[in-house]
Amino acid sequence: MYRQIVVLTGAGISAESGIKTFRDEDGLWEQHHIEDVATPEGYARDINLVERFYNSRWENLHSGEVHPNAAHAALAKLEAEFSGKLLVITQNVDDLHERAGSKRLLHMHGELSKGRCPQSLQTFVLREPFGEDNCCTCCIPAKRLRPHIVWFGEMPFGMDRIHDALDNCDLFIAIGTSGTVYPAAGFVDSANHHGAQTVEVNLLAADRHSQFQYHFTGKAGDVVPALVESILAGKTLGSEAATKEMSA
Ligand code: APR
Repeated sequence: MYRQIVVLTGAGISAESGIKTFRDEDGLWEQHHIEDVATPEGYARDINLVERFYNSRWENLHSGEVHPNAAHAALAKLEAEFSGKLLVITQNVDDLHERAGSKRLLHMHGELSKGRCPQSLQTFVLREPFGEDNCCTCCIPAKRLRPHIVWFGEMPFGMDRIHDALDNCDLFIAIGTSGTVYPAAGFVDSANHHGAQTVEVNLLAADRHSQFQYHFTGKAGDVVPALVESILAGKTLGSEAATKEMSA
């Protein structure tokens, strides 16, 4: 039985919910230049372009068409029933983990449903699209809220808590991430270094594939529920039964 589990999720866990990933075919980075919509410099250069990019993703998320899938639900079940410690770190800025019931969750790249005061850094639940009239209530004069998103060149959130969890976990699972963006792409190295078992769940062999001890190829919505059931049944990876069952 595992004692402490760390899960890292990427855009692939939300793909079956209808949210575009970044680097798959017709992904977000095929339609937008990262430097234009996901950097502080791009925001300073064209605030309206950046606001349109996040407003459209926020509207899609709240369109009533996008719902958590079986993988999000399985991780919420793991949190509710696992007797050890669990931390889900997500690179995603959608709120599907929360809507599925996860609470012990860390958004290391920020959240689409929040805006941030550029002066006080206070965050606000987004009740209307970003724009010149959507301002903070903590400053006088009020400041225009910016997306509460970690842009390239900015420091991800929660790194101390993340390193502490990676240093002490005995199982690290990466779900639906291409392993191309650091520091998240390096979490598997830290887990391996501290003796954890490491598992990759992906449609294909992602960039850090060779660093993972175990691979479960397939859709997150199919693989993650089976993996969670096996963990809750007290099986560990490497034991014949678990591996056979989970590769089914
Ligand atoms: N099930 C499992 N994996 C999937 C599925 C699925 N249904 N669909 C896609 N994938 C995998 C792809 O094979 C790919 O490896 O999900 C991964 C998505 O990779 P990216 O689009 O690069 O997303 P991610 O890894 O989360 O990107 C990391 O980059 O642009 C920044 O801040 C952004 O958080 C993002 C970070």
